[in-house]
Amino acid sequence: MLSSSRALWRIVVVAVVAFAFVLVAAPDASAAKKKKAKAAPTAKAAAAKAAEPAKTAEPVKAAEPVKTVEAAKPAAAKVDVSDLWNAECKKCHGADGKGKPPKTEDMSAAAWQKRFTDAQIRKTIAEGFERDKDGATQKMKGFKDFTPAQLDGLVSQVRGFAK
Ligand code: HEC
Repeated sequence: MLSSSRALWRIVVVAVVAFAFVLVAAPDASAAKKKKAKAAPTAKAAAAKAAEPAKTAEPVKAAEPVKTVEAAKPAAAKVDVSDLWNAECKKCHGADGKGKPPKTEDMSAAAWQKRFTDAQIRKTIAEGFERDKDGATQKMKGFKDFTPAQLDGLVSQVRGFAK
C-alpha cells in the first residue's frame, strides 16, 4: 500500500512538474516564434533547405541496404533452384515442367497445380514415391539430401510453371 501510494505520488509530482514546465516554456516559445516571425521568410527557407537534404538522405540510406539484400536473395535462390531443376528434374519433367507424356504430367496445367498442396509437393520431392497408375508403375526417387531451402525453392519452381 505504502509503496503504491508513493508511486502514485511520484507520478503526480512528475505530471505537475511537466505541466509547470509547459506553462513556463510555452510563452517563451510563442514569444520566440513572434520574434522569429519577422525574420521568418529567410529563416523558414533556410530551415526548409536544411531539412530537405536530411529528408532525402535518410530514406536513401535506409533503402539502399534493404534493396541490395532483397535483390540479392531471390536472385541467388532462383539461379540455385533452376540449376537444381535442370540438373535433377528436367530429364523427366522438362525444362518448363510440362513433362513428357505419358510418363510425366504437365505441371503447368491448372488442374495439376490444384491437385497438390505445397506440402505434398515438398514431400514428394524429398521422399519420392512408387505407385501404380493405369496398370503402369510410376516411380520417382526421393531427393533425401536436399536442404529445406532447396526443397522450398523447388516447390516454388513447380508453382512457377503454372500457366
Ligand atoms: C526419373 C524421372 C524423374 C525425375 C528425375 C524426377 N521426377 Fe518428379 N515425377 C516423376 C514421375 C514419373 C512422376 C509421376 C507422374 C507425374 O506426376 O508427372 C513425378 C511426379 C512428380 C511430382 C508430382 C507429385 C505426385 O505425387 O505425383 C512432383 C511435384 C515432382 N515429380 C517433382 C520433381 C522434382 C522437383 C524433381 C527434381 C528434384 C523431380 N520430380 C525429378 C519422375 C521423375
